[in-house]
Amino acid sequence: MPLPLPFWAQRLDFRAFFSRAFARPQHMPQLTETLLLEVLQTVVDPNTGRDFGSGKQLKNLKVEGGDISFDVELGYPGKSQMPALREALIAAARTLPGVGQVSVNISSKIAAHAVQRGVQLLPSVKNIIAVASGKGGVCKSTTTANLALALAAEGASVGILDADIYGPSQPMMMGLIGQPESADGKTMEPLENYGVQVISIGFLVDADQAMIWRGPMATQALEQLLRQTHWRALDYLLIDMPPGTGDIALTLSQRVPLTGAIIVTTPQDIALLDVQRGVAMFKKVGVPILGIVENMAVYCCPNCGHTEHIFGEGGGQRMAEKHGVDSLGSLPLTLAIREQADSGCPTVVADPDSAVAATYRDIARRAAVKVAQQAKDFSAKFPTIQVSKDT
Ligand SMILES: Nc1ncnc2c1ncn2[C@@H]1O[C@H](COP(=O)(O)OP(=O)(O)O)[C@@H](O)[C@H]1O
Ligand SMILES: [Mg+2]
Repeated sequence: MPLPLPFWAQRLDFRAFFSRAFARPQHMPQLTETLLLEVLQTVVDPNTGRDFGSGKQLKNLKVEGGDISFDVELGYPGKSQMPALREALIAAARTLPGVGQVSVNISSKIAAHAVQRGVQLLPSVKNIIAVASGKGGVCKSTTTANLALALAAEGASVGILDADIYGPSQPMMMGLIGQPESADGKTMEPLENYGVQVISIGFLVDADQAMIWRGPMATQALEQLLRQTHWRALDYLLIDMPPGTGDIALTLSQRVPLTGAIIVTTPQDIALLDVQRGVAMFKKVGVPILGIVENMAVYCCPNCGHTEHIFGEGGGQRMAEKHGVDSLGSLPLTLAIREQADSGCPTVVADPDSAVAATYRDIARRAAVKVAQQAKDFSAKFPTIQVSKDT
């Protein structure tokens, strides 16, 4: 009969002790690119809805022993999002066994995208976006200035062409005075503030004079302004369009190489009806609508914080759904937006930490993501054919 074990020994788990002491090291799955791609598929870009493991944004993937390194190339400017994204990617990689060093580089590379057929491209501008409205006074210029500044804040190279001959307000909103100079006698240098290049019909002609221009004269002047400006390598050029869907707006939307259009509106029914016309105009000339921005959607009382939907709620959203276009976002009616824009320092630069500035940045990023989803323009990649004569 085996001797009963002493009390203390009964409490020891000998089997577990021996198996641990003499066990062979467990087989660990080897770190491979396939495993890494699998975990990167679990990290989804909230802006595009795509994951980082299966898309083309992942570059230079290297797995050496336990060390991992890769680059991620975003198709839109996303400087403010990069630190959080980098952390999420590193955390995902670290869930794999045996990981040593993890090095992740994130950058943005904005490509040129296709425009209407048969329209001559601008060599130094990758994407031109029309900011249009069905009618005047819906804050189109304020939106253009803030969106341009938001794209620049997110790391893009941005310009504004103020083509609103009825009310060129970009010089005032962007805090610019003076006249563009010409270094080569052929092209004009854009003026620049807050890192954004600006050219405006208002720099060159008296507002009263331009107002009485007839359609062909205005469109010719505006096209010249576009093509004879020495734009310095722009990712995006935003055009503050003449309001409405009249002659000038229509001709411009046919002749300017546009990647897309943003339509600005206010929530009154009457303005929303005009949106319909704007959407129809761009669709007719083959320019994709990137989305609708609703302005002065709610009034926020600066004293008590109470918000009021003065013109009704969700009009922009309904309009967007009806036409099958996206709603890019909506802005409140606030004194600060007006005061800052009208004093030459729009909200995105005047108060970058405000909720309104964040909304402008969200709208700008959504629009940039929509641009990135359009078909690319490959004309720059085609070799130029040179005809040479044998001697
Ligand atoms: N969300 C807003 N809240 C308050 N005022 C605004 C807002 N957006 C624009 N404004 C002001 O409304 C006026 C008209 O805007 P503007 O952008 O010039 O319109 P548009 O270019 O469509 O004619 C400007 O004085 C501007 O500062
Ligand atoms: Mg305007």
